[in-house]
Amino acid sequence: MLDLTQRIVFCALLASVYASCPPRCECSEAAHTVKCVSKDLQSIPTGIPGYTRNLFITGNQISRLGPESFKGLENVTNLSLSNNRISEVESLTFKGLHSLRSLDLSNNQLAVIHPEAFAVLNQSLRELNLSRALYNHSAVTNLSTALRWSSLETLRGLDLSDNSLIFLPPRIFSYLSSLRRLRLSNNSLVAIQNSTLSGLEQLEVLDLTLNALKTLSEEGLQELDSLPRAALLLGENPFTCTCGIEPFAQWLNRSQNRIRDVESLTCAFPASMRNTSLLAMGTMTLGCHERDAAADLALQTSYVFLGIVLGFIGLIFLFVLYLNRKGIKKRIYDMRDACREVWEGYHYRFEMDSDPRLSQVSNSADV
Ligand SMILES: *[C@@H]1O[C@H](CO)[C@@H](O)[C@H](O)[C@H]1NC(C)=O
Ligand SMILES: *[C@@H]1O[C@H](CO)[C@@H](O)[C@H](O)[C@H]1NC(C)=O
Ligand SMILES: *[C@@H]1O[C@H](CO)[C@@H](O)[C@H](O)[C@H]1NC(C)=O
Ligand SMILES: *[C@@H]1O[C@H](CO)[C@@H](O)[C@H](O)[C@H]1NC(C)=O
Ligand SMILES: *[C@@H]1O[C@H](CO)[C@@H](O)[C@H](O)[C@H]1NC(C)=O
Ligand SMILES: *[C@@H]1O[C@H](CO)[C@@H](O)[C@H](O)[C@H]1NC(C)=O
Ligand SMILES: *[C@@H]1O[C@H](CO)[C@@H](O)[C@H](O)[C@H]1NC(C)=O
Ligand SMILES: *[C@@H]1O[C@H](CO)[C@@H](O)[C@H](O)[C@H]1NC(C)=O
Ligand SMILES: *[C@@H]1O[C@H](CO)[C@@H](O)[C@H](O)[C@H]1NC(C)=O
Ligand SMILES: *[C@@H]1O[C@H](CO)[C@@H](O)[C@H](O)[C@H]1NC(C)=O
Repeated sequence: MLDLTQRIVFCALLASVYASCPPRCECSEAAHTVKCVSKDLQSIPTGIPGYTRNLFITGNQISRLGPESFKGLENVTNLSLSNNRISEVESLTFKGLHSLRSLDLSNNQLAVIHPEAFAVLNQSLRELNLSRALYNHSAVTNLSTALRWSSLETLRGLDLSDNSLIFLPPRIFSYLSSLRRLRLSNNSLVAIQNSTLSGLEQLEVLDLTLNALKTLSEEGLQELDSLPRAALLLGENPFTCTCGIEPFAQWLNRSQNRIRDVESLTCAFPASMRNTSLLAMGTMTLGCHERDAAADLALQTSYVFLGIVLGFIGLIFLFVLYLNRKGIKKRIYDMRDACREVWEGYHYRFEMDSDPRLSQVSNSADV
């Protein structure tokens, strides 16, 4: 009989353990881990146990996150929501996750990110992965606002790779004062502008590989110089080795020790320079200033040539005039006679018009 009650108690315990794991998820209390992986879930399941520290809800069809999504999960430190279809994250979605240290939203379709989307009450967030997470470039405006409003002063790592970003709004990172690692690789960035990187005094690694940088302007170089501690990665950009790249090449030479992949940086254009090392791209190689002098000389030569041609045409004109001098003289006399006739005709008619009697005579004659 005792045996039966023991069995009943055991079954009840087992049931309660099962009941505390949401359907289509796997829960391990010993490992403090809950996984709901590739199960076609449309929303965050309810009933996730409070002991959870590692929560993986990946490869599902979740499209929206809000403040109701994660309640009573104060122990979660690692949360991965990668490979869903999340397009909207509301303000204070992660507010209840007081211990959250790592948030992975990679491979989603974020279009609307509310201003305080990533705010966590305890300011505990260290890692934020937004690799391939934005729906398109337009979402960067929402993201910029959220990064400023979410109090992420403790964030150490931010991954924004694979997002088709074309430019970064000014001061987008200016409130991430503890950031150490920033990945911007595999985007379409064409320039680094003033204030793009302001506020990143603690940065240790900046990855800009696989972007669309043809060169770096004085402005961009100044921005990079404002990160004195940061190692840089710049490979796989379509660097264009024409005269405009000189300041960048000189800067590379000066900054060699902080550019991790400096040896592998090569020209992509023009075709004749392909695979040439950027570091070897000194003034002599491009010959820009020699070319300027040559251009000046060419311009002067062309002015002289133009002068000679015009002078020659003038001479021919005068010579033709000289050959025709008799014909011209005759024509001038003819013209003078014609003028005289016309002049006399006018003179006569003027006298007629100005004499009232004459006009009366002509009027009465008409009548
Ligand atoms: C979180 O973890 C602590 C310590 O392990 C535990 O005492 C607490 O009950 C947990 N919180 C919840 C909501 O289960
Ligand atoms: C806030 O975070 C600290 C460590 O970062 C932790 O010791 C503390 O328990 C957290 N507070 C709450 C309310 O979770
Ligand atoms: C949790 O995230 C930290 C980084 O914040 C990482 O080092 C650790 O391996 C992660 N743990 C699990 C189980 O994913
Ligand atoms: C972010 O997620 C992507 C894809 O899931 C992964 O490849 C990358 O290593 C992650 N970034 C970091 C900094 O862990
Ligand atoms: C990004 O997507 C939004 C919503 O579909 C659209 O309105 C916007 O034009 C797109 N922007 C770009 C740059 O494609
Ligand atoms: C965020 O995006 C939505 C839709 O694209 C837009 O209506 C809203 O103004 C944006 N918010 C901010 C703060 O840029
Ligand atoms: C770069 O990102 C695109 C998506 O934006 C992805 O399809 C491609 O595989 C990525 N390339 C590399 C080398 O990671
Ligand atoms: C960038 O800043 C410099 C001075 O630091 C200024 O001369 C230049 O006009 C600025 N460029 C832009 C696009 O604002
Ligand atoms: C450039 O280098 C790549 C790989 O190192 C090689 O495949 C390619 O043939 C080279 N191109 C030229 C024009 O030298
Ligand atoms: C860097 O510049 C110095 C002097 O301007 C020059 O002597 C040196 O060869 C350059 N280094 C490289 C690798 O081009």
